[in-house]
Amino acid sequence: MAHDESAQGLLKESSTRRSRSSDRGDNAAFDSDSDLDATDYIDREAARPTRRSPTASFEPNIKGKKRWCSCLFTTLGRRSQCCIGVLAGMGILWVLLTATGVFVYRKAQEEPPYGQSPPWYPTPKGGIAASWADSYAKASKMVSKMTLADKVNVTTGTGWEMGLAVGTNAPAIHVGFPQLQLQDGPLGIRFADNITAFPAGITVGATWNRQLMYARGKAHAIEARQKGINVLLGPCVGPLGRMPAGGRNWEGFGADPYLQGIAGAETVKGIQSEGVMATIKHFVANEQEHFRQPWEWGLPHAISSNIDDRTLHELYAWPFGDAVKAGVASVMCSYNQVNNSYACGNSKLLNGILKDELGFQGFVMSDWLAQHSGVATALAGLDMTMPGDGLGWADGKSLWGPELSRAVLNGSVPLERLNDMVTRIVAAWYQLGQDDEKKFPRKQPNFSSWTDEEKGVMSPGSPTEQEQVVVNEFVNVQANHSVIAREVAAEGTVLLKNEDLLPISRQGLSDERLRARRDAVERATGKRSEGKFKVGIFGEDAGPGDGPNACKDRGCNQGTLGSGWGSGAVEFPYLVSPVEALRKQFDKSKVELSEFLDNKASFGKGDGSLNDLELCIVFANADAGEGFTKWADVSGDRPDLRLQNNGDDLIVKVASSCGGGTGDVVVVIHAVGPVLVEDWIDTPNVKALLFANLPGQESGNALAEILFGDTNPSGHLPFTIGRTLEDYGAGGKVLYLPNGVVPQQDFKEGLYIDYRHFDKYNIEPRFEFGFGLSYTTFKLDNIVVIPQRRKTQYPLRRPNPAAEPPSYSTDIPSKEEAIFPPEIRRLEKYVYPYLDSTDDIEVGQYPYPDGYDQQPPLSEAGGDEGGNPDLWSNYVVVNVDVINDGSVAGAAVPQLYLQYPETESETDFPVRVLRGFDKVYLKPGEKKTVKFNLTRRDLSYWDVVAQNWAMVTEGPYEFSVGLSSRDLSISGTW
Ligand code: BGC
Repeated sequence: MAHDESAQGLLKESSTRRSRSSDRGDNAAFDSDSDLDATDYIDREAARPTRRSPTASFEPNIKGKKRWCSCLFTTLGRRSQCCIGVLAGMGILWVLLTATGVFVYRKAQEEPPYGQSPPWYPTPKGGIAASWADSYAKASKMVSKMTLADKVNVTTGTGWEMGLAVGTNAPAIHVGFPQLQLQDGPLGIRFADNITAFPAGITVGATWNRQLMYARGKAHAIEARQKGINVLLGPCVGPLGRMPAGGRNWEGFGADPYLQGIAGAETVKGIQSEGVMATIKHFVANEQEHFRQPWEWGLPHAISSNIDDRTLHELYAWPFGDAVKAGVASVMCSYNQVNNSYACGNSKLLNGILKDELGFQGFVMSDWLAQHSGVATALAGLDMTMPGDGLGWADGKSLWGPELSRAVLNGSVPLERLNDMVTRIVAAWYQLGQDDEKKFPRKQPNFSSWTDEEKGVMSPGSPTEQEQVVVNEFVNVQANHSVIAREVAAEGTVLLKNEDLLPISRQGLSDERLRARRDAVERATGKRSEGKFKVGIFGEDAGPGDGPNACKDRGCNQGTLGSGWGSGAVEFPYLVSPVEALRKQFDKSKVELSEFLDNKASFGKGDGSLNDLELCIVFANADAGEGFTKWADVSGDRPDLRLQNNGDDLIVKVASSCGGGTGDVVVVIHAVGPVLVEDWIDTPNVKALLFANLPGQESGNALAEILFGDTNPSGHLPFTIGRTLEDYGAGGKVLYLPNGVVPQQDFKEGLYIDYRHFDKYNIEPRFEFGFGLSYTTFKLDNIVVIPQRRKTQYPLRRPNPAAEPPSYSTDIPSKEEAIFPPEIRRLEKYVYPYLDSTDDIEVGQYPYPDGYDQQPPLSEAGGDEGGNPDLWSNYVVVNVDVINDGSVAGAAVPQLYLQYPETESETDFPVRVLRGFDKVYLKPGEKKTVKFNLTRRDLSYWDVVAQNWAMVTEGPYEFSVGLSSRDLSISGTW
């Protein structure tokens, strides 16, 4: 399928900043970005997230650069020799690395481990689904009146910091289509004031509560709308969590496609119920931060996630399918390459899987600067480029904008394709009811992402002088959303260990428990504590630190951890630290509180200062985030799974010193994902462990609810906690060092990530996927399996389209439409759709990528929004009774895991896969029946030969239901 050469010719004609366009060649090891150099790297880093202190977070690089310069120019003997030596050494290293890289790359070319991404052209047009038919009809009327410049405007961002939101396209003024305002991110409105900092996705996943997933999305969207945002850049279901140390796993909902799919879809529905467009991201396999995009890590190309077809379908693309089925307006393609083709230029992914197979009706937008070629990405199915700049941050040299106008005029991007791009965007706008000016007044956002001052300029990214206007109106949109934030934080807290200790009361222990405790200690030590119950709170993670917003984009780990860092973080309006909440809530007449809010653990050195303590609550954490910034040794991805800031050491010391070793210890962890707990989990006086994930602004309040038993913990782990990183298998390891010019990451483990890996290799996790304790106990009983439809191997035939995509004139517009109107006052670097001259444009026969005119057969798995409707039909229902047989009220999370029938065929199946869950609130003694609906997709695997979802028709499916992936007390078959 090598069609690089022809595609290249095409690009030469149509784009001044060209890159290779082939599906496999988008990686283009050697040409596309070759006009970038290391200076671009430094500039980009400095230019990237410039809110308050533009260069601050990249200082190390910049300082480093200065040092090398002074080294180069110094003439002083030893120093210059040393510098020359170092430079020579680096040169040799570079040559060696390059040689190795080229070798590895060549090898990869010889024996592609996962083949190459096949071509899939042309882009299926939007407008085939009944659910979008009205919106497409309206859109087609509007689009048919647009000029070429209007159309290009709608598809292209105006450039980094060229509007008040993190992304803006330009309006189609002539027809009344407004500029769209796009803003991060998955847990709140980024860069905005007076908003809610909700718990992160991983905490939402840990609630296993669909209603809360929906409610959080809805509240988030209310805030977005009231701040003037059209498109939210969330939810995030990729990364999926292949590697437990992956830097952005916390933005998503957990290491299982089913859980991610449900949580993603509920969030989409919540967001879109308010008319705000949701963006499901990042499509697909952006599983690690290292090498996720060119130059950020010093390499000219992004990593390639090499995935086999079945794994792609059953794991990584799966949750995107749920979001499409839920009607998501937009999909963001990711930075990385997939099978050696950039995700935003990968026709198999965008045209084939997303638009044909999943029947996606909205628009595909690029991640910020994830577009690496002009014509090729248009042909591959990209519909909107963000933020609009070209190959470098804030360079203003768009790969589309004027180049797209040129490409349409010279015929290299078919007008049909441009029309489809625009129609998809306009249809999404109608679909969400954003033409209602009362709900979406055609105004700019009422806040600026780039300054906290009331006044500023509209396009701070441009050096052109501009008028100062009011850019921050400080509108408070929080309403009572703190209630939802708190509920999610509390329900997302997982109780992992509890040896008769929790809950405690605000008075400490009841008189009876306190007496018994003191008697026991007296018997053991001969000493008896008197008076108030003595509690110590330990750890920097318990306290406020320097405030929640001390570091830009939350890019450091200090104070209590409420979220990870990067574009998925927000400015906290406040963050209730655990110590603040506990200080307020403990009854001072009964409890004496001591605070040790650092991790130095300077007590414990034999001075006996903790000897009096009866209960020690110790906090520790682990942070990570997006790869554009780093903290300590955490470059986006964590270097390991250990607690940070000396957390393990602190816990061990507190446990040994608390009450001279007789005190009870509660450990509380805030983390972006799994952490290892082996150093202390079996210590006898570590009686309880609360895994509070990333709780957002209501952290302390939520924790207090759980500790004091106002809320019975009901969180369950959305990932596995292993005993070592090795337990997760080779595929669980981040690639920290490049293995070539284009780093290659083969997802060789296939389906076996997280619990699927632990189950397959019979590895005992410390705490398994789905695990979580309660202050009560639950029992499951009476499983009933009710078939709804007959098993058949493949779904019903793909239906004919329910609607016809709009059609427009295919006459190439007049060149005049692309000429800069003289009356426009140009802002430097701002991306316009216009050209200064069209004299050099020639309509010609430009070569298209190989396979362009051989449309592959339409997928039998497709046919409607979300794919073949039969995939979503219920084939079997499983009912199970859940009984609270303990003494307090609480919520159970029954989970259904499916085992595929054993077959003679070579198809390999995981031991079990999650295919249902629910959350039921039960009073003591109460019983409720939960119902699991299993769809055809739930019961199928991806048949790579048939290229369709297939059910196993021989032998019984087994459905096991329980309270975790390894506590499956009841099962039935079908
Ligand atoms: C992130 C996206 C985000 C975008 C805009 C990118 O770096 O990967 O998730 O939406 O920036 O801020």
